[in-house]
Amino acid sequence: MCGVVGYIGDKEATSILIDGLEKLEYRGYDSAGLAVFHDGGIQIRKYKGRLSILAENIAEENLSSKLGIGHTRWATHGEPSDRNAHPHTNVAGNIAVIHNGIIENYMKIKEWLIEEKKIQFKSETDSEVIAHLIDHFYEGDLLQAVYKAIDKMEGAYAIGVICKDEPDKIVAVRKDSPLIVGIGEGENFLASDIPALLKYTRDMYLIENDEVVLLTKDKISIFNALGQEVKRDVFEVTWDAQSAEKEGYQHFMIKEIHEQPKGIHDTLMRRLDKDNNIILDGIKLTKQDLEKINKVYIVACGTAYHAGLVGRFAIEKFAKVPVEVDVASEFRYRDPFVDENTLFIAVSQSGETLDTLAALREAKRKGARIMSIVNVVGSSVARESHDVFYTWAGPEIAVASTKAYTTQMIAMYLLALYMGRTKNTIDKAYYDQTIAELKTMPDKVQQILNHVGEIQQLADAQFNNESVFFMGRGVDVNVAHEGSLKLKEISYINSFAIAAGELKHGTIALIEDGTLVVAVATQHHLFEKMLSNIQEVRARGAYVVAVAKESNKEVEKTSDIVMYIPDTMDELAPVLSIIPLQLLSYYIAVARGCDVDKPKNLAKSVTVE
Ligand code: M6R
Repeated sequence: MCGVVGYIGDKEATSILIDGLEKLEYRGYDSAGLAVFHDGGIQIRKYKGRLSILAENIAEENLSSKLGIGHTRWATHGEPSDRNAHPHTNVAGNIAVIHNGIIENYMKIKEWLIEEKKIQFKSETDSEVIAHLIDHFYEGDLLQAVYKAIDKMEGAYAIGVICKDEPDKIVAVRKDSPLIVGIGEGENFLASDIPALLKYTRDMYLIENDEVVLLTKDKISIFNALGQEVKRDVFEVTWDAQSAEKEGYQHFMIKEIHEQPKGIHDTLMRRLDKDNNIILDGIKLTKQDLEKINKVYIVACGTAYHAGLVGRFAIEKFAKVPVEVDVASEFRYRDPFVDENTLFIAVSQSGETLDTLAALREAKRKGARIMSIVNVVGSSVARESHDVFYTWAGPEIAVASTKAYTTQMIAMYLLALYMGRTKNTIDKAYYDQTIAELKTMPDKVQQILNHVGEIQQLADAQFNNESVFFMGRGVDVNVAHEGSLKLKEISYINSFAIAAGELKHGTIALIEDGTLVVAVATQHHLFEKMLSNIQEVRARGAYVVAVAKESNKEVEKTSDIVMYIPDTMDELAPVLSIIPLQLLSYYIAVARGCDVDKPKNLAKSVTVE
């Protein structure tokens, strides 16, 4: 979703802004722009399309400046266009604003500005109202004008503001949309995400909700909603800038697919002691707590939701507690049965997904115990949870989530096993066997990654399909859903996942000669049933690609191609069976010439509703 960058110091602002925005390109955007102080005024440049268009357009100009704000926009209100791109200004052009998020009451404010102030709007965006509102309240003090403006604004926003009459400051605000400040020497930075600033500093302040920041080149002041200055600990980023670079891979997605053995290893080993006991550290789930919990909700979006589906399987299997999984955008509006005996688990890579955050708040309001499984340390979801189980995937840049998903599943398994042992719903031998098998996962994932050539060949033969069906039974159907999402989001193929037993109730009508069907068939007790389902689609002309364990050669008799995974316990098969599906999606998207890391219409972190 949109990216925000700001700079104030002695260096060339334009190049720092462009560089920072480049690092945020992975979030997804459709236009880019910047505002800098130059020649005694604010200069705005903004263009529809890639950041390179902005960079090329300003390359020939001398836009020398020591202060500026930059933005990549992902359209919500108004089409992607030059005029809807940010920054937006007031009528006089002496106040410039960049904005991530949505101003929910913008229409009311806009109508008032048009009627009362006779403002002629230059764009169709909600964001433009911010510049006019600040202008309306401006009486020589930008900070105060911003405070008065945000008092009138509803919704989610991270904004950066500069003003011609106060050329030594940037004012920024955060409400439900991520914002960080980078601490430099004689210079300071603003951004919506850490990678934008890593080249310049590792010391950051994570800005909290409803806080307002005043940046000068030598000072950073953070104020709360009441205007009182607050103290904030410096957050030191420990991962290196290289983790956010491609390191020779063609795309971030394939790099991140290959980082899964490490992510799984790190997520696992940070939670196991030398005797294979699960150490939850700061997470305070005692036997009494667990005995009190009579229901678990797992709530998330997209891929994280699919990890939640595997989590339901694991918790019901190991801890014998009923679990409901829901997409966050539905959960928050369906008045769910949540009380103080509910454990609510939010799953989110970014920890900034607005729907997930809103669902979490709703569950918290109703008294639930809130746990989150999050990849980004210090993110909003993490901060608002009672307990956090961090995944150790490292920064995930590609829009299509891969390593976050596998580490989320590992976190789910660990949590379920911990609950099972604490509640005594699984015996020690089964626990030990499962932990021992979990520890083999990094190697087994690596074994699959060592044979990408075969999957690449399959992708080269199948990339022209216009629709693909994924199916499975038991926990395999959850993998089928994730495989299908991966394929559609990066290759734009119309893909669909279904419980194999459900096919005959309607969807089988769509199977015809040559239809590609991907059948995930790793579950021993369901294998015969899956074979029947495979035969059903083959009888109607489908071309079947199966995912199966390597000792199970029987599947070859009914499938056209088999993508094998190493043998493992049925319970843990999802950690392995998703890998060939990620690779297949990736290579199909490459063969179709798609922009793999930045698929159209998508954003990495969805901070709007
Ligand atoms: O950051 P989150 O895990 O909360 O993001 C949730 C979804 O937006 C995300 O998983 C999305 O579905 C990905 N594009 C999937 O690859």
